Amino acid sequence: MSVLDLVRPDILALQPYSSARTEAGQAMVMLNANEAPWPPPGAQPDARGIPLNRYPDPQPRDLIERLAALYAVDSSRVLAGRGSDEAIDLLVRAFCRPGVDAIAVSPPTFGMYAVCAATQGAARIDVPLAADFSIDAKSLVDDLPGSVKLVFLCSPNNPTGGAIGLAAIERIAYALRERALVIVDEAYIEFAEVPSASSLLDAHENLGILRTLSKAWALAGARIGCLLARAEVVSVLRRIMPPYPLPTPSVMAAMAALTAEGMDLTRRRIALVIAERERMAVELARLPGVQDVLPSSANFLCVRFADAPQVYRELMANGVIVRDVGRYPRLAGYLRISIGTREENSRLLEVLIRREVSA
Ligand SMILES: Cc1ncc(COP(=O)(O)O)c(C=O)c1O
Repeated sequence: MSVLDLVRPDILALQPYSSARTEAGQAMVMLNANEAPWPPPGAQPDARGIPLNRYPDPQPRDLIERLAALYAVDSSRVLAGRGSDEAIDLLVRAFCRPGVDAIAVSPPTFGMYAVCAATQGAARIDVPLAADFSIDAKSLVDDLPGSVKLVFLCSPNNPTGGAIGLAAIERIAYALRERALVIVDEAYIEFAEVPSASSLLDAHENLGILRTLSKAWALAGARIGCLLARAEVVSVLRRIMPPYPLPTPSVMAAMAALTAEGMDLTRRRIALVIAERERMAVELARLPGVQDVLPSSANFLCVRFADAPQVYRELMANGVIVRDVGRYPRLAGYLRISIGTREENSRLLEVLIRREVSA
């Protein structure tokens, strides 16, 4: 059995849209895509080299090769899209038949898996995290219904912050071989002590990994993320992806960041975020109103307060916004606090200390 047997048969059968850009070759006169032949109004003279009047390459070779090198995989395994959000949506649409198939998630976790499943009419099977918010690998391996085609493992998990070790991922992928595609969402892996699961891709055909430039690479506004998976899976998803998913300015921003200097700066920034995360965990735990600080492998902390809604409001009144994650199962009373600059983090602490003093 191949992983392609898990794909919706109608997706395998459909005739994909043929993009004009892939046919362009070396043509000097491009009259095949109904584009404008001149730069857009307002284009700065020094921006004339940016061909905004032309549709972009669907998967720009230079970007794909750079991402492949960054994530240490073959370029045939990389599908770049508008953030990893797009890959989640494509996966659910390609693998889940509405009203028939399902995804599995481990709540409390990132909400987009459930949103994409609901949009597609696919069921959602919840395999909750264990009491200590670690993954329940045994239940994922033993109790999953046959309807589950996709299993989303979020490592480090948003919003709790815990990462999953490679041994657990491997165990789950092996147990579900020929049954489901296991997708490890590594949006925050750069901040974690555990390595990426990309080293397991060769051994496990049913494994896929989501990476993004939105977090460690400071490019959330560019919307560039990718799926690393078998080349067959990449090519199935390209069949249903809109023809020109990656805006030219975003690709240029990613290329400007993914240089040796960019890598160096990003490495230093990651170290800074980790140091600040550890400082904030200690400082927050000292505050009398704080009841719990979950251990985090990401660029945020999930913190339980005695009066979270009031803390949220007071922070907001002082110009500091955090995320109230109290609506997630088992996270009543928790706020998720992103790690900012040292000054921003100190500002948040200042507001919290001041309210303790005046209480
Ligand atoms: C766990 C997780 N996965 C994926 C995403 C989506 O990231 P993007 O679409 O920006 O790559 C996020 C965003 O917050 C996230 O927390």
